Amino acid sequence: MSSEPMSQGAVPTAAAAMDGDAYAALQKAARDHLWMHFTRMSSYEHADVPIIVRGEGAYIYDAKGNRYLDALGGLFVNQLGHGRKDLAEVAAKQASELHYFPLWSYAHPTAIQLAEKVASLAPGDLNRVFFTTGGGEAVETAWKLAKNYFKLTGKPTKHKVISRTIAYHGTPQGALSITGLPPMKAPFEPLVPSTFRVPNTNVYRAPDFLAGPDGTVDPEVFGRWAADQIAVAIENEGADTVAAVFLEPVQNSGGCFPPPPGYFQRVREICDEYDVLLVSDEVITAFGRLGHMFGAERYGFQPDMVTVAKGLTSGYSPLGAMIASDRLMEPFLKGTTTFLHGYTFGGHPVSTAVGLKNLQIFEDEGVLEHVRANEPGFRATLGKLNDLPIVGDVRGDGYFYGIELVKDKATKETFDDAEAEKLLRGFLSKALYDEGLYCRADDRGDPVIQFAPPLIASQEHFDEIEQKVRVVLEKAWTLL
Ligand SMILES: Cc1ncc(COP(=O)(O)O)c(C=O)c1O
Repeated sequence: MSSEPMSQGAVPTAAAAMDGDAYAALQKAARDHLWMHFTRMSSYEHADVPIIVRGEGAYIYDAKGNRYLDALGGLFVNQLGHGRKDLAEVAAKQASELHYFPLWSYAHPTAIQLAEKVASLAPGDLNRVFFTTGGGEAVETAWKLAKNYFKLTGKPTKHKVISRTIAYHGTPQGALSITGLPPMKAPFEPLVPSTFRVPNTNVYRAPDFLAGPDGTVDPEVFGRWAADQIAVAIENEGADTVAAVFLEPVQNSGGCFPPPPGYFQRVREICDEYDVLLVSDEVITAFGRLGHMFGAERYGFQPDMVTVAKGLTSGYSPLGAMIASDRLMEPFLKGTTTFLHGYTFGGHPVSTAVGLKNLQIFEDEGVLEHVRANEPGFRATLGKLNDLPIVGDVRGDGYFYGIELVKDKATKETFDDAEAEKLLRGFLSKALYDEGLYCRADDRGDPVIQFAPPLIASQEHFDEIEQKVRVVLEKAWTLL
């Protein structure tokens, strides 16, 4: 591995602050015009909008010149770190050569080359790459392909989708319907019908009835049970109506649930038994987040489709993709059959050029090897936080971890809505940021803090995360 890009060198702890008038003008324009995503806009009525102006390696800088460790990789996006000139230069070169052309009956070199590259890395016979601009569109594409495929192969009633509780699969109305977070869906109901939820793999909250004589739940027993609930759901709906199961290798929402041993192997058996397509939603987990190109590779299972986005370009330009097996493309290779689906910006030349370079850098700089070598250190460092009374569970794999917060460690009692509101929104998010740590405090399931640092991060960054989180959680405990 080349040492230059991985080593952070001496990164400045602060940067020049923006001129006061320019800063005030930006703040006003943000308040007056910028509709931020998933943001309670009233929070910024009397507080400054955090404005990030620059990044370098694992760090970002705000308009006031403060430095933060980017412990979430932007939004689970940034694999190679901030400020890479080589990726920026590839984007500029492509924009000056061919800045745009659609993939609607035409192609351009970098889309072709990236499709070939991704197909060569994807598990088994996943060889067909359909580009989108992001993850939600990739999920939409996968569901539409599943429906269309079964219509073309003599099983036209197979159209329903099974997914897991608390899982997030995106905001378009199909992807949102697949999402297992009722409060996020309620404002937009009725959504696309025909999706159903099964339990997720939060072994920390495994049902008591699975406990053995010693009162604990064997993860393998839990995994078998959780997988079997997919078979139960398929039976309940009727196998001739179910098209696909959407699962993340490590579920993000709820705070990083890795699969128990044997889980995906059993899911694969069930999908084969009922002729249901297994979609591995790897919008977060692909491209090194778990130390492998794909989560499916890490956990040893073969999906029928994979959805990706985020890390495919390290965020230097937007891009997503649905990767399908040869079998799923087969009906579309005959006669007049066409998959009537596409996006103006899907497979944008600049993004596919950046994607190619991004994956080249993975090889040149041994990014996967770096993650695998450092994963035990990350796990052990975050594990130190287990001594705090508020920390119930530290879980995850690769460079993807969640810490579940509890009111009572012994009973695993969680916080009620008012407490979670006070703790997460009222205190934690801001306190972590003020401490110089950008990460996510989330209460879409039980309250968690999540970490997904750039894959270039190493022990010094893990230590910084642990130290900063410790300070903030110790304070949080005194406020309860
Ligand atoms: C598993 C998963 N699927 C889909 C999406 C949606 O991706 P996007 O925001 O790019 O539409 C996300 C976003 O975080 C995700 O984590």
